[in-house]
Amino acid sequence: MLAALLVALTVACTLAYFAKSVLVRTPTTSTESTASGSSTGLSIEEQRKYQEQQSLRNRKQQQAQQQQQQEKKESGSIMQPPRTDLAPPKDDPFTVEQLKQYDGSDPSKPIYVAIKGTVFDVTRKADTYGKGKSYNLFAGKDASRALGMSSLKEEDAVSDYSTLSAADTKTLNDWYDFFSKRYNVVGKVIDLPPQGSHSQPPTGGASAL
Ligand code: HEM
Repeated sequence: MLAALLVALTVACTLAYFAKSVLVRTPTTSTESTASGSSTGLSIEEQRKYQEQQSLRNRKQQQAQQQQQQEKKESGSIMQPPRTDLAPPKDDPFTVEQLKQYDGSDPSKPIYVAIKGTVFDVTRKADTYGKGKSYNLFAGKDASRALGMSSLKEEDAVSDYSTLSAADTKTLNDWYDFFSKRYNVVGKVIDLPPQGSHSQPPTGGASAL
């Protein structure tokens, strides 16, 4: 008995739901639109135009969204896409000491990041490399080793990448490509310490064995 009542209730609810959705949809049919048109003071022709404009706007919005998604997919990540407006690379010499001025602490100066001795102008990403920002440890120096190791530790932010593993060397080279496609090259660091000169920090405990 109870089961029969439940079934009846379910059927009733379903019917009510469908009836409601039909009623809600009805104004978009041509006959009803005449009625609603008269209530809004719009002629059928004006309503038709309005609906056309509306659907055109929706289509444009959809297209813009699809394009954004496609661009994101093509660039492969949340990272900025490559640029097509880079200036020809410059070959200005920088000493390690001179490069330090461009670490983002002086807002009137550009911000430079060096990778494998090549100096990139990253000023337009001051929100990333500027003072106090996430990647400021790469600014005003050559921190190739840290880039290769995917490390944000100050002690890894040195130019010596000679002892990187093959995988880390590839990571470093990928970063070099990434920067080359996005930032102007402004010069070369001329007095980096020779590769192999960076003493490794102690690995902790291994020497005691
Ligand atoms: C939880 C870990 C991490 C998260 C969530 C993260 C997130 C991000 C995001 C969102 C960006 C894009 C920034 C932008 O375009 O403004 C970015 C870029 C970058 N990340 Fe990370 N990151 C992480 C770890 C690291 C590490 C360990 C390194 C060390 C090498 C690193 C190096 C970089 C670099 C060099 C960029 C490029 C910035 C540019 O010039 O556009 N990230 N990261």
